[in-house]
Amino acid sequence: MHPAQRFREFALREARGNSPLYHRRALDIAADPDTLALIAALPPDKQQPNLILAAARVNGANTERYQEFREQFHANWPAIARTALTRRTQTNEAGRAASLLPVLAALPEPLSLIEVGASAGLCLYPDRFSYRYGHTGVDPEEGPSPVVLSCTTTGPVPIPARLPRVVYRAGVDLNPLDAADSRDRDWLAALVWPGQEDRVSRLRAACAIAAADPPEVVAGDLIEKVTGLVAAAPRNSTVVVFHSAVLTYLSPEARTEFRSTVRALPCHWISQEGPAVLPWLTGQLPERDSCAARLVVALDEVPLAYAGPHGQSLDWFGVG
Ligand SMILES: C[S@@+](CC[C@H](N)C(=O)[O-])C[C@H]1O[C@@H](n2cnc3c(N)ncnc32)[C@H](O)[C@@H]1O
Repeated sequence: MHPAQRFREFALREARGNSPLYHRRALDIAADPDTLALIAALPPDKQQPNLILAAARVNGANTERYQEFREQFHANWPAIARTALTRRTQTNEAGRAASLLPVLAALPEPLSLIEVGASAGLCLYPDRFSYRYGHTGVDPEEGPSPVVLSCTTTGPVPIPARLPRVVYRAGVDLNPLDAADSRDRDWLAALVWPGQEDRVSRLRAACAIAAADPPEVVAGDLIEKVTGLVAAAPRNSTVVVFHSAVLTYLSPEARTEFRSTVRALPCHWISQEGPAVLPWLTGQLPERDSCAARLVVALDEVPLAYAGPHGQSLDWFGVG
């Protein structure tokens, strides 16, 4: 797809309603042949608007007015291109723990958590965050966490009375990020869209939690690594393999291969992906609520709820 079309679609389908600045900026880029020519020289998988806009931000092209942005973008293009070529879109959203927690907390303790496509592994700490499900709060035993996740709910969400005990956390990513590394943290912050500053402070607070007690996130492909990760988990625990916003990056064949690999392992499997990503779940979804922008939370291939893309809402199935 030509970059002009990619930026236009990004503006209209993703940024509109979520980030006014990115909405405008992507439309401006889509109509700017000189800027498009720079982007078009990158390999196709490096022309993603989300990647280019984040690479621009960490390299000083971040003013609001398009004309100034454009000057900065062209002046700093060598550095922006280098960042786009070496980095990936690896948005790590700790908020997704809010939509995972009710599923995790219903499993027998203690838990061993294995996240595939973990990025910096921030979703591996569901026991260290505070939650606000409407008016119901759940906090760590020691007291409220610096990371407070607010989540609106509908339906019979099984909000736990306390957080589950986690004895093991591990993960895999093609390119694990290190929450203790300031360059990785800055890259993760640049991936959060302008206008969503509350997500940036949450991200930085979650990074501090992960940096103080780093998870074991190995580099590699999730299909190749998941079996070894499950085998390494303590035997006297409930092993849970989970992922959020990850399988969309796999081909349909690879998704099917991951499915048969994980189903053959002695573990539970929690998926949190877009409705079209795991087609074998689609037929089980309540049709009237179908919504492409939300994620489907499923345990062992049984869909339980729709979640907001950043865990900001949880609509549990089973009534009405
Ligand atoms: C959008 S991020 C989501 C990160 C995290 N799961 C979250 O919800 O915040 C997707 C992550 O999946 C990783 N990924 C994509 N394909 C992968 C694969 N085949 N094997 C391992 N990791 C993969 C990417 O590197 C990236 O860090």
